[in-house]
Amino acid sequence: MDELYDIMRRRRTTRKYRETPVDQELIQRVIQAGIYAPSGSNKSPYLVAVVQNPDLKQRIREEAERVERRFYQEKRRAKESEFLKWVETKDIRVTKSFLTDAPVLLAVFENSEWEDRHSIESTWLTIAYMILAAENEGLSTVTYTPEPKDFLNEILDIPSIYRPQVILPLGYALEKRNKEGRRPEIEERVRYYR
Ligand SMILES: Cc1cc2nc3c(=O)[nH]c(=O)nc-3n(C[C@H](O)[C@H](O)[C@H](O)COP(=O)(O)O)c2cc1C
Repeated sequence: MDELYDIMRRRRTTRKYRETPVDQELIQRVIQAGIYAPSGSNKSPYLVAVVQNPDLKQRIREEAERVERRFYQEKRRAKESEFLKWVETKDIRVTKSFLTDAPVLLAVFENSEWEDRHSIESTWLTIAYMILAAENEGLSTVTYTPEPKDFLNEILDIPSIYRPQVILPLGYALEKRNKEGRRPEIEERVRYYR
């Protein structure tokens, strides 16, 4: 039990990866953990694309960087300085080397056919389980959410009923993950009704 809490506490986002390959078995275990997640009416309303092909990863990176450039142009135009400053402190850049450096990309799609059964919420539970499982396997990831994401349907040849939610790179962290991700104190986010 404590082990699960330790995994939750120590997990940190990683944006720089080694090119060291990841065992197929670990990838399967991470995805299997995602499938264990509960879902609305138990529809398991998602699809996970496991991308290891270097050409496809390169195309995904190029498209992601294209939408990122536009996204930041809009933020600058709207003078969203708080967001832009935060991004700078995190060393988040328009270039997304993790999309080609990490040996595996999991592109997770929500099956919108089940929208009325909470397909988005269910898909994100699956994503959360996979993020924790990756940490459990000694792997790192980043919850990467470029906007828009529909280039993934085109590159991976997946019908538009499946709506892309996230790209989770899987790999071994290059950077040391000793930074403390600040979280609110429990009292800041909870109201008790006793
Ligand atoms: C829904 C969601 C979307 C996110 N989108 C991005 C993203 O597009 N790019 C990125 O670099 N990090 C993204 N992140 C990672 C967050 O910035 C990160 O989780 C947060 O700063 C806390 O840091 P930690 O994960 O190291 O504790 C996202 C996280 C979540 C939960």
